[in-house]
Formats: sequence, C-alpha cells, structure tokens
Amino acid sequence: MDRASILIVEDEETQRSLLGGLLKKEGYGAQEAGDGGTAIEMFKDNPFEIVLLDYKLPDTDGLTLLKRFKEMNPEVEVIMITAFGSIENAVEALKGGASEYLTKPIELNDLLFKIRKIEEKTHLVYENKILKETLKDRFKSEEFIYSSEKMHEVASLVVRIAKTDSTCIIAGESGVGKEIVVNLIHALSDRRDQPLVKVNCAAIPETLLESELFGYEKGAFTGAYQRKIGKFELSNKGTIFLDEIGDISPLLQSKLLRVIQEREVERLGGLHPVKVDVRIIAATNKNLDEEVKNGTFREDLYYRLNVVKIHIPPLRERKEDIPLLMDFFFKRFNDKHKRNVKGFTREARDMLIKYDYSGNVRELENIIERALVLTRGEYISKEDLPPIPDKGQPSLEGNMNELIEAMEKRMITEALANNDWIQTKAASHLGLSERMLRYKIKKYNIMKK
Ligand SMILES: Nc1ncnc2c1ncn2[C@@H]1O[C@H](COP(=O)(O)OP(=O)(O)OP(=O)(O)O)[C@@H](O)[C@H]1O
Ligand SMILES: [Mg+2]
Repeated sequence: MDRASILIVEDEETQRSLLGGLLKKEGYGAQEAGDGGTAIEMFKDNPFEIVLLDYKLPDTDGLTLLKRFKEMNPEVEVIMITAFGSIENAVEALKGGASEYLTKPIELNDLLFKIRKIEEKTHLVYENKILKETLKDRFKSEEFIYSSEKMHEVASLVVRIAKTDSTCIIAGESGVGKEIVVNLIHALSDRRDQPLVKVNCAAIPETLLESELFGYEKGAFTGAYQRKIGKFELSNKGTIFLDEIGDISPLLQSKLLRVIQEREVERLGGLHPVKVDVRIIAATNKNLDEEVKNGTFREDLYYRLNVVKIHIPPLRERKEDIPLLMDFFFKRFNDKHKRNVKGFTREARDMLIKYDYSGNVRELENIIERALVLTRGEYISKEDLPPIPDKGQPSLEGNMNELIEAMEKRMITEALANNDWIQTKAASHLGLSERMLRYKIKKYNIMKK
C-alpha cells in the first residue's frame, strides 16, 4: 500500500517544517497548514488519511477542528498534539474521535510508531472490505457462513493464498468445513476454470490408491487392459485435493513427496515421467505434528505440504457462528423439502446454541434438516431436537436442601452467563423477580467468572 497522506496542522513554523521534512523523508505525502482556516481549505481539496493536529491554534482550537474534520470525512484518523502534562486535553481529544495523541516535545520515533499503527489498522479495515466484497461476489453458490473473528481470519487467509500456487494443509476436526475451504481456494484462484479433482485417501484401499493417483499403462499388471490416467494428470493446470492425507502408507508418502518435488508423475509401468502443473491441497483431521513425532508420517513430506496451514477451529470454539449457520441451514432445508416452517421457538434456539457439536457444522446441519423434515408444528421446537446430553448431573441422593441450593446456584449462574450478566434479562429468563435474583446472587455469592 502507498504511504498515507498526512496533513500537519501546527502554528509554530519551525516545529511544523521539522515534522513535514521528517515525514516526507519517510515517504509520506505530507502537507502543512499554519492555522485552522487554511487547514479546512486544504482538507476540502485533498483526501488526507491522517491529520496531525495541534491542540492550540491561533484562530480556533484543536477540538473544534477535530470535529470539523470528522464531519467532513468520518474515516480520517487524527493524532492530537497536546502540551506536556495536559492529560485532560488528551482525554477530550480521544473522546472527540482522535485515534492517538502525542505530548510536546514530540518524540519522532513515537510519532512514526503511531502513524504506522494507524496505517496497519486502516490497511486491515480496507483488506476486510475487499475480502467481504470478494466473498460476496464469488460465493453465491458456495455459501461460506461465519461471523466469528476466528473464521474471519480463516477467510482472510483463504483469499490471500488463493491466488498463489502454494501447497497447503487444511486441518480441523471432522465436519468443520475443510472441504468448503478447499472449494473456496480453488474458486478464488486463477485455476478456477480448470479441474478441481478430489481424492479421499482414506476411502480408497491402499493398493488401488496408488493407481488412482498415478495411473498405469496398459499391461502394467494383470488386469491392466488399458491405460488409466491418474488423478494427478487429470488435475493438470487445476487443483488436486488430497483428503485424509494422514491415512496414506509410507510407500505412497514417498511417491507423493516425489511428485511435489519434481512436479512430475510416473504411471505404473510407464517409461517416462509426465510433467504436471498442479496445485496440491491436503486435508486431515489428524494431528500431523503428532504423527510426525511418532514416525507414522514423513517429516519431509509434512514440511513440503505445510507451506501454508489453515486450521479451522471446531464449532464449540466459535459459538457466534451458530445463529447464522442455523438460519442458513433452516432456509436451505425449508426450501429443499418444500416445508413452510416459520422458524425456531426460543427454547429451540437456546438449545441449538448450547449443544457441544462434536460433529461440528455437519452435525448442526443434520440436526436442522432432521428437525425440519419431522416437525409438525409451525416452528421447530425443543421436541424436534435431540436432547442435550446431561454431563455431570448431580445425583439426587443426600440432603434435599443442599441439592436444591446447588441446583439453584447452577441455574442462576448459567442464566447470568447466557444473558451477558444482565440481571433483568436473567431474572425474566428464570421467572424470578429482579429483587429475588439479587437476593440469591448475594446468598450464593455468585460472581462473574
Ligand atoms: N462456514 C460454513 N458455511 C456453510 N456451510 C458450512 C460451513 N462449514 C461447513 N459447512 C457445511 O457443513 C458440512 C461439512 O463441511 P465439510 O464437508 O466441508 O467438512 P469437513 O471438515 O471436510 O468434514 P470431514 O472431516 O468429515 O471431511 C457441509 O455440508 C458444508 O457445506
Ligand atoms: Mg471433508
């Protein structure tokens, strides 16, 4: 990205030209204004990204100017310069929308550091915007739903690496969306009009896998009546997806390593190797680091594959994605099965958010499809969903008062946690008065964890 363009507003001339000179030397587009009026005029005509703003000016004050700049361009980033020791002014500036403040005398390194910080931030915002647009455009058919920060990072990595030819490993538990990510990478790459060939290494018997991948010549072995082109050759110019890579035998591991290194394959019984131009993406739900340590997966192959690693977190670590996914699958299956269900009851919603989903997104998808097919009501209700397995249900033996108290404490803690610790909400959820809730919180000494 180009260096930011910066407007320096400072009435003291030596200070101003010193800053201007320094910023220009660092490659910034820096311009200077000696008073508020000039600054506003310049700001009207130039798309400054950052303003370095002195708090005290001859014709106006920094705070007023800050407001004006923000009105004219809400995205502008302002660094306020305040006099040494006037922390109140700095606080006011931050409240007024400044991103940073500096106190006089200005430490040049500090200034550069703050500018870079702002640049990084705006660069990120910009990147996210592009990312969202790219994703929206490209994936009308391939819907990739998320709202969590963790998945946002995954998506951002996908977009960044898609255009490269880097080999990558997609890691993650079963059902987290590894295959969707592979589809995305291919669809976003320049290879998108070429084949995306998928091979599930765990599903094909060892002996067949080799010929599936590399092909064979007629007569290579008994039963090889005609030449077979392997998947690597079929994916030429495109992408090959090796799913469950953790399951391949040592022999195939070494053959695969050769393909990656030489970019050529040898058909069984073939005389010459064949060049292939293919991007390799592997996926696994095993922990390959462990497998390498145990000696079951070749270290050199692992490093060749692991140029870029995309780890997709399990659904339980990104519960924020659940509501969006629920609505997405709901719509998909309501349409697919031509049902006219209106939505979820509140209880059902709560339950769906609470599940542990050892099968991740696929499990959520299955639960919703099943509920939609089976429900007889207008809304999917608790009865249409599998029960939440009870973990550590306290035994019902012993002192009744103690048991009831333990249960109360647990219910209240959970209700608070599920309602962002807002007592009004938790109370209405529990069917208690707020006063009663407060009393019990005190009684059981419940505290936010
Ligand atoms: N972010 C998502 N948005 C929409 N659908 C998703 C998302 N993630 C996963 N899915 C859906 O969940 C199901 C499982 O996803 P996928 O097959 O990609 O998982 P996987 O990690 O390859 O699983 P496995 O390890 O079992 O092969 C698919 O139907 C997929 O469409
Ligand atoms: Mg898969």
